[in-house]
Amino acid sequence: MKLTSRQIGRFQAQIWAFYEPSGRHNLPWRRTRNPYRVLLSEVMLQQTQVSRVLVKYKEFLKRFPTVVTLSNAPLSDVLRVWQGMGYNRRARYLRSGAQKIVHDYNGRVPKTEKELLEIPGIGHYTANAILTFAHNEPRVFIETNIRRVFIHHFFESKDNVTDNEIIPLVEATLDTKNPRQWYYALMDYGAHLPKVIRKNSNTQSKHYTKQSKFSGSLRQLRGKIIRELSSSPRTLHKLKQTCDNDPRIIDTLEVLKKEELIVYEKRTYQLA
Ligand code: ADE
Repeated sequence: MKLTSRQIGRFQAQIWAFYEPSGRHNLPWRRTRNPYRVLLSEVMLQQTQVSRVLVKYKEFLKRFPTVVTLSNAPLSDVLRVWQGMGYNRRARYLRSGAQKIVHDYNGRVPKTEKELLEIPGIGHYTANAILTFAHNEPRVFIETNIRRVFIHHFFESKDNVTDNEIIPLVEATLDTKNPRQWYYALMDYGAHLPKVIRKNSNTQSKHYTKQSKFSGSLRQLRGKIIRELSSSPRTLHKLKQTCDNDPRIIDTLEVLKKEELIVYEKRTYQLA
């Protein structure tokens, strides 16, 4: 799809018209240019809602204010602060990422996509989000809110829309003079859309998967185990008691071991 300059202008005007009065202008990670803080917020905001991240972001930075403090922290400390966020693997990656940044870049988050992509936990989206939000570079990237905006506007009656179809439109409509604010605006508009159109346009995306409910989920069980072990080592018997004999507990412990989040030693499970 090739957009005319009139289409581009109208689209941009509509996004800005929403953002100026109604955007989330006070999110703490939007009031900083510090690449470590931007990195942290982007990792946290993947798969966790803004209201929960607001609390944890502050807590995390209080405990680990710099790349160096995070890189030196025991994993168990990082997981303890991460508690309640879910997807604990992200915490482990963040810490390994910090270690690589200290080791290879003297503690400074690198400024090229290629280098960023080599850091554990940083994929295409996060690398480019860091370059745009920390350095105001006009990068092209997509996440769930952005995807929703483009599907709603340009693919109204199409199903199975791929990101490869959307990305050229993200590029064509990018406000290259002000990419940082432009992406904030797109995200806020996309977060707001389901409230006004009463549906989620992302169900038309080929990449759409419904996020499972946290309650009763494997993620919740994993979180519970990690929480238990962060107070002290536990026997299998004790863990079973705490997790109400959840039948998935043995498999979950095996996965956590494989991921090197926990170890089994002296007949107890403990944080690695
Ligand atoms: N502001 C910057 N990055 C964001 C994100 N991933 N989600 C919501 N707001 C943001």
